[in-house]
Amino acid sequence: MNKALHKIYVSLFLVVGISVTILLTIYGFDYYTTPLEERFFNANHNLLKPSGALGHGFGIIGTLMMIVGVSVYMIRKRYRKFFNIGYLKHWLEFHIFLCSVGPVLVLYHTAFKFGGIVSVSFWSMVLVVLSGVVGRFIYLQIPRTIQGQEISVNELNSIKEKLAIKVRSVLSEDSSTLSEFEKISSADRYKSFNLLTAAGFFVRDYFDIKRVMRLLKMRIKLLGVGKSESNELIKAAKSEIVIARRIALLRTSQKLFHWWHIFHLPFAITMFVIMVIHVAVTIIFGYKWIF
Ligand code: HEM
Ligand code: HEM
Repeated sequence: MNKALHKIYVSLFLVVGISVTILLTIYGFDYYTTPLEERFFNANHNLLKPSGALGHGFGIIGTLMMIVGVSVYMIRKRYRKFFNIGYLKHWLEFHIFLCSVGPVLVLYHTAFKFGGIVSVSFWSMVLVVLSGVVGRFIYLQIPRTIQGQEISVNELNSIKEKLAIKVRSVLSEDSSTLSEFEKISSADRYKSFNLLTAAGFFVRDYFDIKRVMRLLKMRIKLLGVGKSESNELIKAAKSEIVIARRIALLRTSQKLFHWWHIFHLPFAITMFVIMVIHVAVTIIFGYKWIF
């Protein structure tokens, strides 16, 4: 999949996800905001209640989306036979799409009533989705090839060196900006980093980087290089800074990601186990949806 196609792929997920959420909110707003004891008299009750034609369907389709989203990703990731089918990172995007829109549909299936043992399944689902967002952030901190394989520190250092040559070519005669840039693009600046002070550290880091990039841009402007070369230099400088941070925090990110899996998976299992019991109970009680 080339870059343009990948953009369309991700945009499609976003458009579908956002449209589904907005449409369901608009369509069901009157019903979902009606107090529980008055809903029976609402014109949409037979459609939107959890066992209604639409409400029940939301539960079934949302659940199927989650089952497909999880199993397809896990199979693609684990079985050698499927390693050649698309890049893992694109399958992760598919996982995120199905496992975000699925829970939205399940939310509308519940009609915002969270009663009984099945509410444990619902809240486990919420925790899995929230932890997914955190996991996605940590995942992005671990540099990977386009295929989704982790890149080693040695490879990262050699990428950084190549970028450094490019950036130094503009700063060689501006020693003060050069020394500022050396500081900001050095992995050593993360030596004092720890998870407790991470938030403050990143805020300071953000403003430091902004300031040095401003100096660098001024320097490039003074040199009067063409627009495309100037864009390339700025991109190289930004990449060098990001790579320095990722090299410095690689061990921390890998450890965090390992611990994160231990959190994400059990909630997913809890959600599915209770959901299976819930479905079995509804079938025993005779609910059959539209069939
Ligand atoms: C993770 C997935 C699911 C969650 C979290 C979930 C959650 C819920 C909740 C909170 C309710 C409302 C309970 C109440 O009235 O207090 C409900 C009702 C219901 N659900 Fe689900 N559900 C899920 C999947 C499914 C699936 C896949 C089906 C069907 C195959 C289903 C069928 C039903 C039915 C028929 C009702 C109405 C039961 C009644 O009115 O007594 N649900 N569900
Ligand atoms: C109900 C919804 C979801 C369920 C049931 C679910 C379940 C899972 C499972 C079972 C795995 C595989 C864990 C493993 O390989 O050990 C996984 C991986 C992952 N999920 Fe989810 N997930 C959900 C939603 C999300 C969301 C919304 C996001 C992001 C916003 C997300 C991000 C991730 C990431 C980053 C991985 C790790 C990929 C890797 O290590 O290769 N998940 N998820």
